[in-house]
Amino acid sequence: MEISLSDSGLLKYQAYIGGQWIDADSGDTFDVTNPATSQVIGSVARCGAGETRRAIDIAEGAQQTWCQITAKERGDMLREWFQQIMAHVEDLAQILTLEQGKPLAEAKGEIIYGASYAEWFAEEAKRIYGDVIAPPSNDKRVVCIKQPVGVVACITPWNFPNAMLTRKIAPALAAGCTVVCKPAEATPLSAFAVTELARRAGIPDGVINVLTGVTEEIGQELTSNSKVRKLSFTGSTAVGKRLMADCAGTMKRTSMELGGNAPFIVFDDADIEAAVQGAVLSKYRNAGQTCVCANRFLVQDSVYDDFVAGFKAAVAGLKVGDGFDESVTVGPLIHEAAAQGVRDLVQDAVSKGAKLLTDDSSIEGLTNTFVAPSILVNMDRSMRVYTEEIFGPVAPIYRFTDEQEAIAMANDTNYGLACYFYTRDVGRIWRVSEGLDYGILGINEGILSNPSAPFGGVKESGQGREGSKYGLDDYLEIKYLCMGGIDQ
Ligand code: SIN
Repeated sequence: MEISLSDSGLLKYQAYIGGQWIDADSGDTFDVTNPATSQVIGSVARCGAGETRRAIDIAEGAQQTWCQITAKERGDMLREWFQQIMAHVEDLAQILTLEQGKPLAEAKGEIIYGASYAEWFAEEAKRIYGDVIAPPSNDKRVVCIKQPVGVVACITPWNFPNAMLTRKIAPALAAGCTVVCKPAEATPLSAFAVTELARRAGIPDGVINVLTGVTEEIGQELTSNSKVRKLSFTGSTAVGKRLMADCAGTMKRTSMELGGNAPFIVFDDADIEAAVQGAVLSKYRNAGQTCVCANRFLVQDSVYDDFVAGFKAAVAGLKVGDGFDESVTVGPLIHEAAAQGVRDLVQDAVSKGAKLLTDDSSIEGLTNTFVAPSILVNMDRSMRVYTEEIFGPVAPIYRFTDEQEAIAMANDTNYGLACYFYTRDVGRIWRVSEGLDYGILGINEGILSNPSAPFGGVKESGQGREGSKYGLDDYLEIKYLCMGGIDQ
């Protein structure tokens, strides 16, 4: 697939360190492929520990001046970044679809969503407040000020290659931090493109550094280097645990946005049509590859048949294919191994008695990275999909009898990121909301994310929040000033 960009300067293949686009020291590169066709799009710099160390040193130097300029000036530059992104939505979306696979309309949605973090934190930069606290005795005064944590390492995933980067960089910069970012190997081009726009927005050299390459080497340097004071990671729980353990050696702050096993509960008093619409959005967004995608549908006995019939009809209307085809609503998975993993989960469920309500006709003639939007019924808890994150377009539907059972099933997981439920009963909304062990609840809503809301999970889904005023706090340290000898 050839893309036609109105601004070809956005296509970058080198790392960005200290305001320069550079090759890896070794000159090595690695290939980036289009998941819809498996064709190579280009080769990007394969950096390692040396370049990472250099980027950290530069970020540390830049932070000394970045934190001294006023919050308004930082906010103005973030606002300019937002405007630059919005002026290039079409190009950025093409780059995103090319390397990630999601349908072009969804890619545009991601770019606008990503830009909204730059806009939100441009505004929030000026709203960093401290506290004056009642002292323990009259000769003292107690004051708290907030200061940037320092250099932040950002490790971002391939499922939202634009928005997950802006969701970390924007609050970090607003707080007065500088960043060294490592985007996922599968999707570096979106990261480079949005970085180029930050450069054009006037964000000074060294404030944002982005490098791609040998994951272990870069990760090892980012987690062990004592100049990095915080790590913000979005990705799997398994990798998040390893990174947290590695950060312990230098006691870095961490924000971890990890895996999920989102329940989608449909109660007997729900608006079934709305629940079906929400279910399709929540499940099939990005071909099921989001941490907040519905992973287990829990439907009350008396409305089970109606919901399943409506959902099956809606899923039949989805069109799978190359994201550049405007009629396509579900793209490929990121690579063949991911698609095979999802097929294995379906096979496991079927071998234990599940029934597939869908077939593979929607993916006939497509490559092995495509998985048909699927619905599984006759489910039980022994099947792997009950406990594991699917990360693909497969919807297992379970039954429940009453509210207590629904809450117990929903909480029966080590994860705690997003949960959805549909009901029109106000009392039930409060009871269920309070009983669910999750960081984010969608109540009669299938899409949750926006910059004004705190995104994040509990249990093994991570810690910290992104977006909102709470997301800014994650990049700030509290310093307590105890002033004594106050004359009475
Ligand atoms: C994610 O899947 O990690 C993020 C999803 C979102 O921001 O909605």
